[in-house]
Amino acid sequence: MRRDGHVLNTIGNTPLVELKNLDTGPCRLFVKLENQNPTGSIKDRIGLSMVEAAEREDKIKPGGTLIEATAGNTGLGLALVAAQKGYKLILVIPDKMAQEKILHLRALGADCRITRSDVGKGHPEYYQDIAERLASETPNSFYVNQFANPANPFAHEATTGPEIWAQCEHMLDAVVVGVGSGGTLTGLGRYFERVAPQVQMVLADPKGSILEPLIERDEVVVPGSWLVEGIGEDFIPPNCELRHAKKAYAISDAESFFTAREVLSKEGILGGSSTGTLVAAALRYCREQTAPKRVVTFICDSGNKYLSKMYNDFWMFEQGLLDRPKQGNLVDLIVRRYQEGSVATLAPQETLLQAYRRMKLFDVSQLPVMEGERVVGILDESDVLLSVQADPSRFAQPVSSAMCASVVTIAPDAPISELLPIFAKDLVAVVADQGRFVGLITKIDLLNYLRKQLG
Ligand SMILES: Cc1ncc(COP(=O)(O)O)c(C=O)c1O
Repeated sequence: MRRDGHVLNTIGNTPLVELKNLDTGPCRLFVKLENQNPTGSIKDRIGLSMVEAAEREDKIKPGGTLIEATAGNTGLGLALVAAQKGYKLILVIPDKMAQEKILHLRALGADCRITRSDVGKGHPEYYQDIAERLASETPNSFYVNQFANPANPFAHEATTGPEIWAQCEHMLDAVVVGVGSGGTLTGLGRYFERVAPQVQMVLADPKGSILEPLIERDEVVVPGSWLVEGIGEDFIPPNCELRHAKKAYAISDAESFFTAREVLSKEGILGGSSTGTLVAAALRYCREQTAPKRVVTFICDSGNKYLSKMYNDFWMFEQGLLDRPKQGNLVDLIVRRYQEGSVATLAPQETLLQAYRRMKLFDVSQLPVMEGERVVGILDESDVLLSVQADPSRFAQPVSSAMCASVVTIAPDAPISELLPIFAKDLVAVVADQGRFVGLITKIDLLNYLRKQLG
């Protein structure tokens, strides 16, 4: 039951919902909506339990400083709890983190220290080592360390497990989880081992992580890379008791993202990228069963912060995860195609202010200027800047007064090598088929295309 009043009391007690429109074979599949926690993820639970354990154990005093190395949701959970309880919070964050997450953390009052993401354990700038060092130098501070803090798995043993057991009315056969720190697997594993040892723990692991090969084949592999966020490992954290998982599935990024998109379109639930991994593994488990079973998995975080990634077709095209029929010419390099209505454009008579606003809205630095189906110019940021810098009232001037009218067009069947002289002059290539605009190709489009050739 949700208790009255305080935001921290809205952590946990999340709803359990049955997936009704996906093929679950002979089984029934339920998801626990951890995205409904106040900062939008399962990690609010451990944010609260790790801070309250430190208070009980006298490891943190009023006004003290919490320190954690985190690339994700744990930072948000801690930032919420720290702000509500009056602690300072320093987060050491690798520089590959999405800007939205850092903005959310700073808005919650966290002191975010961005560090390199291209160095590994043992390097002085490795984010976990920086956090540990900061904690040893900062008076009245506590290094939270979700990877080894026993209050992390305990949160799931004490809250997530009993909630699921009660919500299923003690009729449950399997729970499918991911491993980030191992807290969920260990906490639920311990709980069900005690109260219902027949419940099977199943691991959903991104392809490239070392865990699935270890569980399924006792195989030690070199870790690869994956795009799904929050789960998958290149080491076994102290908090991860792998023995609880008797079965594991390796799920590719593509399967994860398409499954998450299906969970949204068919079930109306906007989950994060790991939702796709967990549901995909749960569906495989369900379909493999010969007898009806009741299975639970998690919507670990909200899909809001992934809208510009896996829910965005253009991002999926760029990653090579969503395919369009290949045309075998330059059209294959064009992510946004005019005929599909996905190119932002300008008309010559529009003002520079409108052009500036459209560039910001679509997050582009140049726009084609169109008359009918024909490109008559390109307007980029420098053109606007040169026009308005001496006199901002010139924002009212028409686009035609500032655009570059010497447009270099190239036919769809031209060889890729013809793009290079265009880029060398710092221009974009305008692809036109017998005068009709097809789309723009920029340097980054060519780089994306070449990178995809790597497979
Ligand atoms: C986004 C996300 N974070 C964290 C976790 C679980 O992590 P942990 O092993 O730290 O409990 C999951 C699990 O599925 C997840 O999807």
